[in-house]
Amino acid sequence: MAKEVPNWRASTLAAQAIGQIDEGTRALVPPLHVATTFLRDPDNLYRSGNAYGRPDNETVRGGEAVIAALEGAGAALLFGSGMSAAVGLFLSLAPGAHIIAPKAMYWSLRNWLVSEAPALGLAVDLVEVENLTALAAAVRPGFTKLVWLETPSNPLWSISDIAGAAKIAHAAGAKLAVDSTSATPILTRPLALGADVVMHSATKYLNGHSDVIAGALAFAGEDDFCARVRRLRTAHGLILGPFEAFLLIRGMRTLDLRVRMASATASELANRLSNHAAVASVLYPGLPTHPGHDLARRQMSGLFGGMLSIRARGGEQAAIAAAARVRLWKRATSLGGVESLIEHRASVEGPQSPCPPDLLRLSAGIEDVEDLWRDLDEALRG
Ligand SMILES: Cc1ncc(COP(=O)(O)O)c(C=O)c1O
Repeated sequence: MAKEVPNWRASTLAAQAIGQIDEGTRALVPPLHVATTFLRDPDNLYRSGNAYGRPDNETVRGGEAVIAALEGAGAALLFGSGMSAAVGLFLSLAPGAHIIAPKAMYWSLRNWLVSEAPALGLAVDLVEVENLTALAAAVRPGFTKLVWLETPSNPLWSISDIAGAAKIAHAAGAKLAVDSTSATPILTRPLALGADVVMHSATKYLNGHSDVIAGALAFAGEDDFCARVRRLRTAHGLILGPFEAFLLIRGMRTLDLRVRMASATASELANRLSNHAAVASVLYPGLPTHPGHDLARRQMSGLFGGMLSIRARGGEQAAIAAAARVRLWKRATSLGGVESLIEHRASVEGPQSPCPPDLLRLSAGIEDVEDLWRDLDEALRG
């Protein structure tokens, strides 16, 4: 594994997995280490640094090194899913801790925060974190231990001000965590903007091929916070499996290409859909009409990601009917893969969801934009 992170741009870091090779064979692709246990030296020491597979694994470490390099992080940890990465972080807080999370965020994590976290002694407030005044009013200095942002947020793609939120969180003695799944490190680097930890559902863009469930946390430093989460990952057995880590490293080699292609396609589709007779509105931070557009221009790298949502002019049934008619787009949940996905989001999130019933979520893949447009246009026209 490379010892020092080369001073390369993200596309190079990802393409070459920060230069990791197999030193033993000089193979350009590091091997997949599947062993769960390791030989102890005769003098009772473990000089290799490896003892057992639940705390750590060399292939997992390889994936973590790439993610840490991409995020400019001091350390990264891989988990068995995005949910286990996020929950692992929340579990590291002491009972009595106050957490602020967005009203608009990934629904399954919001459900966990509302339904499960209170039983663990965690007090959760859902706040319009896009509004810094509302965030400043909601923090409780000394009690608030974690502010959670998700930007752009799923499925409305609202934009939160990471640097502004970091100042507010830190002034109250809290850490700032950012779910950067849809932005990816290609478009936003939350740690450079003041966040303490970045979370990814690596299931999405980082892996990019809809064949791995994985999660990641990238910490500003290898500090006590990171060490506590690492201990919990070991104790709860939350680590990613080595085969998934191997696939993830391979997937990340094309991260930059995929994110740029998906962003260009999403932007083109958002523009065209804005003038579509069957579409009431388009939610995409790249559109100048989006309320978070100016902030997104400052905070993102000039591209606005591959995710957008549309609201059907004909309401919920029109949205469901349009999704039923696509032939090229895949009618499936998840996002960030090479194939384009369409989903009637309220059907997934259920009755408690703040997601508008007429909303279709679109994840642009890397197919030809004209093929995607023709299929979508026909499906929307009926
Ligand atoms: C923004 C976001 N965060 C977290 C998650 C949870 O990730 P996973 O499904 O890998 O557990 C998802 C999954 O859809 C997501 O979209």
